[in-house]
Amino acid sequence: MQNPIGVFDSGYGGLTVLREIVNKLPQYDYIYLGDNARSPYGNRSFNTVYHYTLQCVNWFFQQGCSLVILACNTASAKALRTIQQVDLPKIAPGKRVLGVIRPTTEIIGTFSETGSAGVLATNGTVASNSYPVEIAKFFPELKVYQEACPMWVPLIENNEHQNHGSEFFIKKNLQRLFEKGERIDVVLLACTHYPLVKDTIEKHLPVGVKLLSQGEIVAGSLADYLQRHKEIEQLCSKKGSRAFYTTDSTEDFDSHATIFFGEPVRSVHVDLDAQ
Ligand code: DGL
Repeated sequence: MQNPIGVFDSGYGGLTVLREIVNKLPQYDYIYLGDNARSPYGNRSFNTVYHYTLQCVNWFFQQGCSLVILACNTASAKALRTIQQVDLPKIAPGKRVLGVIRPTTEIIGTFSETGSAGVLATNGTVASNSYPVEIAKFFPELKVYQEACPMWVPLIENNEHQNHGSEFFIKKNLQRLFEKGERIDVVLLACTHYPLVKDTIEKHLPVGVKLLSQGEIVAGSLADYLQRHKEIEQLCSKKGSRAFYTTDSTEDFDSHATIFFGEPVRSVHVDLDAQ
């Protein structure tokens, strides 16, 4: 029976994570869902993000997934804990849902020599305070400075991210981040959309500052998880298939998705209300 690994994002951003996961672990079947019809999640309330995410997680379970990765920081920050602690024990005790925050917070401190790190994320992720709280568990001495970049996801989703307007906002947010923490020597892209503007960010970063994106980190952490949890690993089917679903137009999805995933994508529409 097909038991793909589910990978979820509010839109296209999670494809930057799926791309790295597939590179690292090509043998598994994967199924991706972008909730493009309701994206972006970044400015939505805790409750809304939780309900949307739970609905999508249930959809993955109906497709046969035993393991779902929330490749979205906003959903990981606002919905993951409640889903893991409250919903899963009731609806699917044998299934697992993992996020992208923990793998990143476990290692971020190893990249800093000054003891100061910057986190760039959506409004929702910053307001949740998840990064400072989680990082403090592993690196209590590390000073964490956050900057919300609410314009970046809409610019990226609208394919405007290589234009001057986009560069203006990137420069502005980076300036603000470094005004808060001038000793920052590592900056984390804590939104899975942001690797798409990596070149522009690098252009405006002070010399010597390292830029971390989550794709490879999450892929490495998933490989490790599957090693340590054979009971879940054995359930995952391994025919090397990839399937893509979107809650919005498939034409739009397919034309945008390629730049995030790095190869052509053919998606299928899904109507979550009809489930
Ligand atoms: N890519 C998502 C993240 O990692 C969310 C973007 C959004 O929907 O605002 O936070």
